[in-house]
Amino acid sequence: MSKKFEKVFISMFLCFFIASCTNQSLQQQSLYDALGQYEGITNITHQLILVIAQDERVKHRYKDANMQRFKKGLSDYICVAVAGPCEYTGDTMQMVHAGHNYTNTEFNAIVDDLILAMEQLGIPVATQNRLLAKLAPTYKDVVYQ
Ligand code: HEM
Repeated sequence: MSKKFEKVFISMFLCFFIASCTNQSLQQQSLYDALGQYEGITNITHQLILVIAQDERVKHRYKDANMQRFKKGLSDYICVAVAGPCEYTGDTMQMVHAGHNYTNTEFNAIVDDLILAMEQLGIPVATQNRLLAKLAPTYKDVVYQ
């Protein structure tokens, strides 16, 4: 191979290599997969329940709740929110939270608890933030209803 051909060949190879690396880093894993699919999501809700049970700011709010139903309902809700292959069959967020006058501070406490639960499970911060962004719109249906 002549020197000139060798140079062209090497530059073409480098171009393809760099293009394929860039392409891979641009393709983001789906949030559903990043959370570990439905099993990963139920691990989060399970951990969240443990954290809420220790949280003096909000634990009294759940004293009459059916926690089995809560776990299933929240897991399905999160699964749908992250575009997973699930169905949430419970009432709307507004109906579930209506009449309790949940406050801003309580909402923030639940978000804190969710972050702590995800930290305890070793979920990367970038994935945590992607989930929080999906749940943030729930705020208007939960607080002061
Ligand atoms: C990001 C914010 C929140 C989200 C995404 C959320 C979501 C949900 C979901 C999906 C359920 C289960 C509904 C069902 O299957 O029937 C639920 C139930 C419940 N939520 Fe929330 N919630 C949020 C904030 C809060 C806050 C701030 C409080 C109060 C401190 C609260 C108190 C409750 C209670 C007590 C139940 C159980 C209701 C029952 O079954 O009797 N939630 N929530």
